[in-house]
Amino acid sequence: MTTEQSPTLDNLLTESRSFPPSPEFAAAANATADWYTEADADREAFWAKQAERLHWDTKWTQVLDWSNAPFAKWFVGGKLNVAYNCVDRHVEAGHGDQVAIHWVGEPGDTRDITYAQLKDEVSKAANGLLSLGVTAGDRVAIQLQMIPEAIVSMLACARIGALHSVVFGGFSPSALRQRVDDADAKVVITSDGQYRRGKAAPMKANVDEALDGAQSVEKVIVVRRTGDDLEGDVPWSDGRDIWWHELIDAQSADHKPEAFDSEHPLYILYTSGTTGKPKGILHTSGGYLTQAAYTHNAVFDHKPGQDVYWCTADIGWVTGHSYIVYGPLANRATQVVYEGTPNTPHEGRHWEIIQKYKVSIYYTAPTLIRTFMKWGAEIPAKYDLSSLRLLGSVGEPINPEAWMWFRENIGGGNCPIVDTWWQTETGAIMISPLPGVTHAKPGSAQRPLPGVSAKVVDDTATEVGNGGGGYLVLDKPWPSMLRGIWGDDERFKDTYWSRFAEQGFYFAGDGAKYDNDGDIWLLGRVDDVMNVSGHRISTTEVESALVSHPTVAEAAVVGASDPTTGQGIVAFVILRGDAAKAGDEAIQELRNHVAKEIGPIAKPRQIMVVPELPKTRSGKIMRRLLRDVAENREVGDVTTLADSTVMDQISKGLSSGS
Ligand code: WTA
Repeated sequence: MTTEQSPTLDNLLTESRSFPPSPEFAAAANATADWYTEADADREAFWAKQAERLHWDTKWTQVLDWSNAPFAKWFVGGKLNVAYNCVDRHVEAGHGDQVAIHWVGEPGDTRDITYAQLKDEVSKAANGLLSLGVTAGDRVAIQLQMIPEAIVSMLACARIGALHSVVFGGFSPSALRQRVDDADAKVVITSDGQYRRGKAAPMKANVDEALDGAQSVEKVIVVRRTGDDLEGDVPWSDGRDIWWHELIDAQSADHKPEAFDSEHPLYILYTSGTTGKPKGILHTSGGYLTQAAYTHNAVFDHKPGQDVYWCTADIGWVTGHSYIVYGPLANRATQVVYEGTPNTPHEGRHWEIIQKYKVSIYYTAPTLIRTFMKWGAEIPAKYDLSSLRLLGSVGEPINPEAWMWFRENIGGGNCPIVDTWWQTETGAIMISPLPGVTHAKPGSAQRPLPGVSAKVVDDTATEVGNGGGGYLVLDKPWPSMLRGIWGDDERFKDTYWSRFAEQGFYFAGDGAKYDNDGDIWLLGRVDDVMNVSGHRISTTEVESALVSHPTVAEAAVVGASDPTTGQGIVAFVILRGDAAKAGDEAIQELRNHVAKEIGPIAKPRQIMVVPELPKTRSGKIMRRLLRDVAENREVGDVTTLADSTVMDQISKGLSSGS
């Protein structure tokens, strides 16, 4: 493999510290070492046992049908209702008074929602959707910030068999529109506005812009969140728009959940691929919920009724789907859901929340940990974090420095840390230490979970040896695997299954390495997908946004390593004619243009105006060379360029400040 990883990632491989679990933790841990042997001996029996965590109205007749690979069917013939599993059954078992959600609003308002209340809310919302004519199989788009109604909406869809498609609240109108159109969403659920860093910002107005002329949308349900704090009126389309409180509050709290087939689609979630058009990743019911519940139990060592769990993700991403909504609720968790940013109104907000609710399990992302490091260890030191007993990380490789800082300053030096590798496509955690079992190493996700099989292979699909690097593949099907790309079976096969078609491996798009113990170290994407603060953004997507601006003739985008965000977006643009002498203002306008087209998370960190782009003779842009420039390294081998002087022209142009 051509290793294009950054020097920081190389450093990971010299890490040799190892932390065994404490005997007390190990003695009480949910997971045990024999799970590995049990799963290896009979994988399907192992997964069938995990599926018993759920309530099935009809039991399956076959664990796995892989006869039409890569289209899997798990728990064939089984029937269940996902929302019943996440809510009602806990109430029926006598836990109705247990808090499901400690919700904390950014301005400081709070709500505690018990499982009994959640059941009523979800039932009412299900009845509300039914009253609008939403039926099983229909698609409902949800663009909401982190408020309880977001979770209620998702569960209401699941309850009636409608698919939700959650669109991150920070995505632009055109990104929302693209997703609404692709899935033919019948209903959109949103809010009047959202609190962002202490201010109320409009949400509904953006949704209206997105939906102008959208053919499929019949109704828009609007949650009132910012109310009078929002400047100006909420734009309203009579006949189409309806307030959440007017629709839902009036509904009956009785709704009988119907059992759906194990393979009934549960949701679509769009993610960036190597081309400009986002892929609608499709997940189904029984297998997905089984693996979400199993991993939430095993990896977080979750104890219902005792732990207070907090996953800091947004429901706009898969982590929010699997580890705020489906996994924890299926396992009867009591969890914190926080609406706002970590530094509003001050940089100790997370620690204050942990102290107040006695959070015991805290699952977050490396980019946030590095931000906390920047803000300083004296901030968490002011709070009582002694309730914490397990920490987790997801979204990108965590550098050993950040891991150690997290362990010492947040975990008090004694919490196991689980570095969890997975993807939107895998639906649930795949590679992670098992707390209480694994000797944790800072920076390594270590081993596939019991029941999961992953390998690091070279170009010829041969597994590399210890110390060797290559491509990460998943060589056996798993219950929560994606069932396809919405409306595009060919793209599904082509994207994930063509690279190692003969062997039938799923290619994850990540590079990885084994250390001398055979533990896995993730090395970042090997394709044209960037990872910025744990968010996947494709280089093509940003390039398309740039060239849609009238001043841009051509653009090439690379992800350059960044101390806080993991990667930062660096764009090289060739401007048209007169624009070529553009100053700072024009560059600012381009950055804003990308933010407007895709969303603020895609705003390039830096844009460099260049006279030419480095291309091979077949016209492919050599991003490797641009990355050298973006990361201030000596430019590598240029012999395969069509014009070998291009890099000199670029470097000269940049040093003379144009
Ligand atoms: C990266 C997020 C290293 C990886 C759940 C993957 C990680 C992509 C880790 C998926 C980790 C996620 N260590 N890299 N622990 N977790 N990644 O779909 O490149 O938003 O392919 O899912 O994030 O991102 P996605």
